[in-house]
Amino acid sequence: MDAAKEPNVSLSGLLELVETSSIASIKGTVSRILALISDPAASSSELIQLIELDPPLAAKIFRVANSSYYATSKTISDIHQALIWLGFDTLKEIVLTQKMSGLYHGGTPVCGYSRLQLWRHSLAVALLAKTIYRREFGEKGNNAYAAGLMHDIGVIVEDQLLHQEFLQLVQSIEDTPQSLSDGEISLFGYDHCLVGKALGEHWNFPNELTEGIGFHHNPEGASEEHRLFVKTIFIADYLMFEQGYGYVAMPLPDREILLQYVRDLGLQWYALRAIVELVREDLGKIEQKGLIA
Ligand SMILES: [Fe+2]
Ligand SMILES: [Fe+2]
Repeated sequence: MDAAKEPNVSLSGLLELVETSSIASIKGTVSRILALISDPAASSSELIQLIELDPPLAAKIFRVANSSYYATSKTISDIHQALIWLGFDTLKEIVLTQKMSGLYHGGTPVCGYSRLQLWRHSLAVALLAKTIYRREFGEKGNNAYAAGLMHDIGVIVEDQLLHQEFLQLVQSIEDTPQSLSDGEISLFGYDHCLVGKALGEHWNFPNELTEGIGFHHNPEGASEEHRLFVKTIFIADYLMFEQGYGYVAMPLPDREILLQYVRDLGLQWYALRAIVELVREDLGKIEQKGLIA
């Protein structure tokens, strides 16, 4: 296509476009659920209230909760029951996942890219980042799940709001391999990390999450406080790309960077490989149950 047909949009202009687009419809629920996820003292009553005020969300939760993936022995038809059977942490993740999934419908598949592929990638990174936190660091990993799920939110913003240019970019990466960020910077003047970071700041996401989104391709740019967290997202992103859960034909960064971050986190490769295998099995089950779309 002719790039001149669509004027370049500045980063602040793009944020303004977000606010008047359908993307903004998730802002309230997503911001509240993220606050609940990042607050260890959060109570379940706010979560229940949030779900009860959103009947389409509640319906989606029942569909997911009653799928055999969660293997509950009862039919769940009430949010209080869902909380008891699934637990507070799982229910928070389901709410975030269901709310986010709405952004990834439709679109135009091009050169192996589609919104569904991007969503599949986001889920894969979320599951891997969470499982690393659970199994290796003995933590719940809800924040890692949220950051994994949302780390490429800037990509879906570009796809939705700069659609023709974005498709042109995907095509150009296929023709001339380069990182997505490099291609975005030459075309838009910013990359999806900057878009996601600006959105996170604008929507008041917790700092850890905003840094996870903003620096997932460059963890060294994150604050010291959150750098190991961001490195976990980098590792999960890298490994799931390598496992076939990518969404665009870009070359992976130098493997030495991955190896360094794995050392920085004190992770053992045999443990990491076992976790990747577990996540692959899990994703297979999720896809089989039709829970990805
Ligand atoms: Fe990315
Ligand atoms: Fe990614």
